[in-house]
Amino acid sequence: MRSHYCGLIGAAEVGQRVTLCGWADARRDHGGVVFVDLRDHEGIVQIVADPENATVFQIASKVGYEDCLRVTGSVRVRSNVNDRIPTGRYEVLAESIELLNAARDLPFALHENPNEEMRLKYRYLDLRRPAMQKVMRGRVKLVQALRRWLDARGFQDIETPILTKATPEGARDYLVPSRVHPGQFYALPQSPQLFKQLLMIAGFDRYYQIARCFRDEDLRADRQPEFTQLDMEFAFVDEADIQGTVEPLIRDVFHAVGGIELADPFPRMTWHDAMTRYGSDKPDLRFGLELADLADAVRQVQFKVFSGPANDPDGRVVALRVPGGAAMSRKQLDAAAAYAGKFGAKGLAWLKVADPAQGLAGVNSPIAKFLDAAALAAILQRTHAEAGDAVLFGAGKWVVTSTFMGALRLKVARDHGLVQEGWKPLWVTDFPMFEYDEAEHRYVALHHPFTAPKVDDIAALNADPAHAVSRGYDMVLNGAEIGGGSIRIHTPEMQSAVFRLLGIGQAEARAKFGFLLDALKCGAPPHGGIAFGVDRLAMLLGGTEAIRDVIAFPKTTSAQDLMTDAPSMVDARQLAELHVQVRGDGGD
Ligand code: AMO
Ligand code: AMP
Repeated sequence: MRSHYCGLIGAAEVGQRVTLCGWADARRDHGGVVFVDLRDHEGIVQIVADPENATVFQIASKVGYEDCLRVTGSVRVRSNVNDRIPTGRYEVLAESIELLNAARDLPFALHENPNEEMRLKYRYLDLRRPAMQKVMRGRVKLVQALRRWLDARGFQDIETPILTKATPEGARDYLVPSRVHPGQFYALPQSPQLFKQLLMIAGFDRYYQIARCFRDEDLRADRQPEFTQLDMEFAFVDEADIQGTVEPLIRDVFHAVGGIELADPFPRMTWHDAMTRYGSDKPDLRFGLELADLADAVRQVQFKVFSGPANDPDGRVVALRVPGGAAMSRKQLDAAAAYAGKFGAKGLAWLKVADPAQGLAGVNSPIAKFLDAAALAAILQRTHAEAGDAVLFGAGKWVVTSTFMGALRLKVARDHGLVQEGWKPLWVTDFPMFEYDEAEHRYVALHHPFTAPKVDDIAALNADPAHAVSRGYDMVLNGAEIGGGSIRIHTPEMQSAVFRLLGIGQAEARAKFGFLLDALKCGAPPHGGIAFGVDRLAMLLGGTEAIRDVIAFPKTTSAQDLMTDAPSMVDARQLAELHVQVRGDGGD
């Protein structure tokens, strides 16, 4: 249908007859001449309809916004150059214009800034916008680069099932009822975790898959219910082998796709250090603002909120400097407390610094009366607070306090424009094996139940599970967790011991993971792997903070597809076939 792309018309085409297809981006009627901007995926070129060609002129005069057209004409040099578009020195003098299909009742103009709901409902139009075309094409390049790199190094691309059995990784499963087995369900994979381990046991050695994963979890700006992982697994490896392979992968791909140079090697930080210094297991290192520990300085103070946790081995008292924060209003301080509250803070003490040289007389704080000169001096010295700054305090259990202060650290940096340009990757290692779930009164796995402990000794693990460290690692970039993985348990004894510690009894372990335990008995090799969030990589490369921007047909934060209207009711016959009965009240 066409000979050239609109956006690629250049000097080489001058004098040639070309046929172009695309959409009418704009029409201008200029004293007897009609100009149409014709757009395809490569860009825009100006079409000219001269009144001398009456038929063409007549069609051009009626061209509507976003009409789908086919134009044949000759390329010539433009008299008034348009520097804003790459084809701006050339135009096509139309010999024929064919209206392939008219655009009627457009819900929004592509040049407008449509709201999120409109964008999702009419996603095909949203995707037609050049900005979206650019990000989506960036994602295509990313996936191509990942595949090229891995294919060149002998990784086997193997598909794993979508209809499968639940592999608990912390989120709820999406279930699919079986028609042939009444009352039984498949689960959509939260990740190919167990299958990739089984592939190592099967002898494939190095596996990868660009795998769709499904998780019924609370959604956020960087989370979708279905998302894509670059999933990898290796046999006969340790942490250094895996990290030594995938770090160059990420570095090479960021260079090739984004022209971005990442540090070589990536810095490394233990989970404990990351939580201590940044209050996060995925610290954003594009700014400082490290948390300052105060427990030793406030052990004796009158204030129980501080002295309690300061004397508790599992407690933490910590301070965060807010540059220029002395100007914060009461309302802003309350808002910061409410924000920290979302992450578990029960309160947020604060202190404003007028003149650090004057000690207690130089600060303003509702808790100043509880502090002595030595405690204040420690606070000011460790936070590096200066005149005009504020200091926010967190006190309580170690993990919760670290987490809400880490969340505040991010907010303060964003609100005060402290986040610097650049790329800050790192490895976070030495995660705890387990965290205690207060609500469920049991340990849960911090990575997943198949991650190996550092101590390869079951008795030692059983003796002190709370302090067990795992062989898990995350790759973090600019505060986003872009990948996570671990060395796996490869003996049935250790796997059973870990299930036991997680409160999974023998019968349950057999029912849920019998196939894994059996496979581990068949000479399973030491193995491990990692999975990268492809959507998150695409977000970072595309410079967007919304995961929806890098997924062609994404869902809302309430997991709906506004375009197709999924999920939706199905008819009674379909349900009956699946042996499913819907509760009248919609369930709860
Ligand atoms: P994990 O659960 O850490 O590990 O997931 C790996 C990476 O996938 C991305 N990711 C998501 N992206 C978008 N939306 C989501 N809802 C979402 N959830 C996770 C993140 C994350 O780092 N089987 C293990 C990997 C392994 O051990 O090899 C796993 O799935 O970028
Ligand atoms: P209270 O004595 O409970 O009125 O608290 C005095 C100050 O300490 C208030 O500013 C509270 O917001 C703050 N506060 C209370 N609990 C905590 C906590 N766990 N961490 C930090 N500050 C707190």
